[in-house]
Amino acid sequence: MPASTSASPRNRMATRLRSIPPTIFSEMSALALRTGSLNLGQGFPDRDGPASVVEAAVEALRAGRNQYAPGPGVPELRQAVAEHQARHYGIELDPTSQVIVTAGATEAVAAAVFALVEPGEEMVVLEPYYDSYVACIEMAGGVRRPVTLRAPDFRLDVDALRAAVTDRTRTILLNTPHNPTGAMLDRDELQAVADVALEHDLVVVTDEVYEHLVFDGRRHVPLCTLPGMWDRTVTISSAGKTFSFTGWKVGWVTGPAELVSIVLAAKQWLTFTNAAPLQPAVAHALTQEAGFYEELAGGLQTKRDLLVSGLRELDMDVYLPEATYFATADVRRYGFRDSMEFCLALPERAGVVAIPEQVFFDDQDAGRHLVRWAFCKETSVIEDALGRLAAADLYA
Ligand SMILES: Cc1ncc(COP(=O)(O)O)c(C=O)c1O
Repeated sequence: MPASTSASPRNRMATRLRSIPPTIFSEMSALALRTGSLNLGQGFPDRDGPASVVEAAVEALRAGRNQYAPGPGVPELRQAVAEHQARHYGIELDPTSQVIVTAGATEAVAAAVFALVEPGEEMVVLEPYYDSYVACIEMAGGVRRPVTLRAPDFRLDVDALRAAVTDRTRTILLNTPHNPTGAMLDRDELQAVADVALEHDLVVVTDEVYEHLVFDGRRHVPLCTLPGMWDRTVTISSAGKTFSFTGWKVGWVTGPAELVSIVLAAKQWLTFTNAAPLQPAVAHALTQEAGFYEELAGGLQTKRDLLVSGLRELDMDVYLPEATYFATADVRRYGFRDSMEFCLALPERAGVVAIPEQVFFDDQDAGRHLVRWAFCKETSVIEDALGRLAAADLYA
């Protein structure tokens, strides 16, 4: 065997990957399994989506739809996405040139970033981040320019947004409704993003996977519907959250044909295509099961209220999320140095797993004290978790 010189596995890793930590979700879900804890960490629902959609997938498997789907997606799903955009938002799309199917929103984000960001270019992005954004920008050789959403209400600081744009910025990566804070950009905030994009000739990639999981009668407004924004917006969504099939990884990209074809140019070299038998099932979901996500949002709102009021009874400061699966709490009163320490101690002390939100911030002062809790779980699980937290010693 040749003598090893500098060839430790870590040294072999490309430098651009070394600064990207492993995803916190694997670590915390493994911790939940290892300790038998209730997992209020990773954002997946306890209950699957509609049975008719599963049936449609089974039918597609039996009907032999098991070979490569077309790279841009099966025609019926591209058509169904176009109809969905028209029905909900009045956006008219040509399914053959303005819609592509991706391996979840994750691949859509990766393809958009790889396709639009040159090495050394800056991408403005809201923090706390969905963690794949950081990884994708790094892998593209880009530079992230964070705009911090600050507790307790996580509103967009328009001056900070303006200050983040430099002469090296060509893109913004937006996420609304926002993971992990549960905030939704309101009309004025969306308009501010649009103004900045128009002034500086920026393209905006907007991740809207929680578009339907919104509460208290709110309505999601896609950024691309604001005046002047259609031509410069790449919109991303996915069946994972809307239909409670997070494991299927079927997402989509919509927008003007020129931008969609640019994203496809990168996407074709990532997976090329995925989930052939699931794509027709998601088409079925979009056309036949719209009632599902309305009901899902209502149920989630009730669970949000249960979790938030329970955490508040434990004296945490909790921001009431406007959307998504998640609530954010300030845990400073328990005396831990940071939320990572708090979350690593939590399984032992209470048998509950939550996510240290600080890992989604560059600005550690803004995120050090924040913990993300998922409420997309069965009511009994949330009640059990709250009971365990109430019975535990949570102090450092
Ligand atoms: C903001 C955001 N974007 C993208 C994704 C990933 O979506 P998908 O599972 O469709 O790849 C998630 C999943 O948690 C998310 O929260």
